[in-house]
Amino acid sequence: MKILLNGIETEVTAGQTVLEAAREHGVEIPTLCHDDRIAPYGACGLCVCEVGPKLLRACATKVADGMVIETASERVLRSRKFVLDMLLSDHTGDCVAPCSLACPGGTDCQKYAAYIARGEYHKAAETMKDVIPIPASIGRICPHPCEKKCRRALVEEPVSLAALKAFGADMDLKENTFVPDCLPDTGKTVAVIGGGPGGLTAAYFLRRKGHTVQIFDKMPKLGGMLRYGIPEYRLPKAVLDKEIALIEALGVQMHTGVKLGEAITLEGLQSEYDAVVVATGAWVSSKMRVPGEELSGVYGGIDFLRETALGNAPEIGKTVAVCGGGNTAMDACRTAVRLGAENVYVIYRRTRDEMPAEQAEIEEAIEEGVQFKFLTNPDAILGDGCAQSIRLQCMELGAPDASGRRKPVPIEGKFETLAVDSVIMAIGQKTDFAGLDGLEMTSRGTVLADEGTFKTNLEGVFAVGDVSNKGADIAISAVGEGRKAADVIDAYLHGIEIAYKKPFVCEKTVTAEDLADRAKQSRAEMPVVSAAERKTNFGEMALGFDEETARKEASRCLECGCLDYAQCKLIRYARQYNADPAPYAGTKNIRKKDDSHPVILRDGSKCILCGLCARACDALENLSAIGLIGRGFTTEVGAQFRLPLGESACNGCGKCVEVCPTGALYRKTEGQKNVAVDRK
Ligand SMILES: Cc1cc2nc3c(=O)[nH]c(=O)nc-3n(C[C@H](O)[C@H](O)[C@H](O)COP(=O)(O)OP(=O)(O)OC[C@H]3O[C@@H](n4cnc5c(N)ncnc54)[C@H](O)[C@@H]3O)c2cc1C
Ligand code: SF4
Ligand code: SF4
Ligand code: SF4
Ligand code: FES
Repeated sequence: MKILLNGIETEVTAGQTVLEAAREHGVEIPTLCHDDRIAPYGACGLCVCEVGPKLLRACATKVADGMVIETASERVLRSRKFVLDMLLSDHTGDCVAPCSLACPGGTDCQKYAAYIARGEYHKAAETMKDVIPIPASIGRICPHPCEKKCRRALVEEPVSLAALKAFGADMDLKENTFVPDCLPDTGKTVAVIGGGPGGLTAAYFLRRKGHTVQIFDKMPKLGGMLRYGIPEYRLPKAVLDKEIALIEALGVQMHTGVKLGEAITLEGLQSEYDAVVVATGAWVSSKMRVPGEELSGVYGGIDFLRETALGNAPEIGKTVAVCGGGNTAMDACRTAVRLGAENVYVIYRRTRDEMPAEQAEIEEAIEEGVQFKFLTNPDAILGDGCAQSIRLQCMELGAPDASGRRKPVPIEGKFETLAVDSVIMAIGQKTDFAGLDGLEMTSRGTVLADEGTFKTNLEGVFAVGDVSNKGADIAISAVGEGRKAADVIDAYLHGIEIAYKKPFVCEKTVTAEDLADRAKQSRAEMPVVSAAERKTNFGEMALGFDEETARKEASRCLECGCLDYAQCKLIRYARQYNADPAPYAGTKNIRKKDDSHPVILRDGSKCILCGLCARACDALENLSAIGLIGRGFTTEVGAQFRLPLGESACNGCGKCVEVCPTGALYRKTEGQKNVAVDRK
């Protein structure tokens, strides 16, 4: 028998469905409610094709001689998109947990927490290294935007995700450290300028994709601001060294003491390599532009920290004024304390409430004896050749400015003078443009790169991290950009143009009321060395979790993200067909989760009522433990008399889980934290 399949005359067998015939000839038709082992039911409507003038379900339509079938016409695609829009409009779930969505690096926090809770630390590290090559370092210093969105806060407090990351990664570094595979060599070459978190990450992922990668860095060692900005007491460099050594062991070639603009040029690298990544950070200390800034004894914040890290700590004397309210100012003042300064002042023009520094850092600095002079601003540094005092303009708060913070306004004629031995200007950092000639700049003075492709105006040159677009940020943002850029560059090296695009995900709103049944369990805080002891040296102040604490803390995770995300056909097709349920938003059918069965977890709000599970139970297990119950809007899939699954005839065979096209059914691990099916 012959049909015309997408314009091609095709030999098919009588009795076949359109779906079977198409598949036999390599034509893909999406299905949600179909399984080859089970009689078709035609519930979802996703498999529609044009059969002559009609739209018919391919899974339930038999071929006939001379049939004319279009499987991907505009009308078909529109119809499938509509099916998906409608299904998603009554679908409630979180494809990805809110913590993960909030992480600029896209870390699967839920998954590594689950592995830690299970005591599987190498798997936890493997999960982290899917997105972060230096998790032990990041875990120690990350301001953890993930925790700010952690849903456990609706019960009592967020899960200690950053500390858990450091714990899991440290356990992995101890022995049998996870080492990822690299794809076979592609013969393509990439030069990465700058070996901070952005450059290291781009290099790591490009190497894993089989490319030859060389990093060039001006400093004696790699690590960027993690080494030369963040002090030892927050991030021991031995930890950073171990993580960098693992990247080197993958075959990334590292050249230190090589400065762009001197030993190498952008033009030279462009002609020598197939792609170039600029990741040179923001290495120029911003100036305050006050009289006396040129005096000796006045240092830029990052210059002071860098020289201290290099073992050349400047002479700061006994009394030090640190100007600024951000994390660099906190690192500078606490470093000054550790270098032996007896009176360390932080000069900040607003109040503590407006300080951009992390609250914990401010608290720890106060514990270490740092004195905060709020509502003061440097007016002049005075001295004869070297700084001897600083004159401060007293301020008050006025109306909110563009950032929403109340604007500091000088109080006319009110000044204060502090006798000092040195002044550290920690008010921010900027891009050093030396060697970056030819690159287009933003109005902020950073390298302009496309947000989706990381491309600069120069062919084959990409930019990531603090050097680009919005400028100085946090390390995990540079890591996230490095990884996304590696994907784009990999495609570019294979001659494909792609842009990084945030994938569509389903998200749901959860309130404290929804979690009212959860038992309260307080958050494990990181134990630290006492202030009296830690202020005398640069030893790491965090003591780390012990195994029991870490596993207990990780168990607090509520498993918000869909455990079936990696396999879910609904989300895969939603992306393929650019589904958008927003125009059809209305009342959703929220069904309670059913955790009554020892091995099967049901989340009815994710069910699309395709009925495949019930048909599988019947056809493959001869059991009929579940079926479609109710009518109309309240229809659901469940056991007879709406009994919990645990009280039904279900024998736990898992056939329903196997066929379910969404995450509505999941096979759980009894007595243990669930780990989502692998994303790979
Ligand atoms: C004092 C301080 C404290 C911070 N604390 C935190 C924190 O607690 N948590 C957090 O998440 N973030 C923190 N940050 C921010 C974080 O360190 C940066 O966002 C991050 O390091 C940026 O990564 P990057 O790879 O873009 O650049 P960088 O880390 O700056 O790395 C750039 C690299 O390029 C190299 N380079 C520069 N110019 C050249 C050149 N011309 N030729 C060759 N090589 C060159 C540098 O040597 C360096 O290795 C802090 C920053 C500072 C300054
Ligand atoms: S079932 Fe699919 S679409 Fe729904 S939340 Fe899970 S992964 Fe997302
Ligand atoms: S409870 Fe767990 S999955 Fe949910 S947001 Fe917090 S860490 Fe993420
Ligand atoms: S639970 Fe059953 S009816 Fe619901 S989506 Fe899964 S297979 Fe279909
Ligand atoms: S209607 Fe054909 S696969 Fe669902």
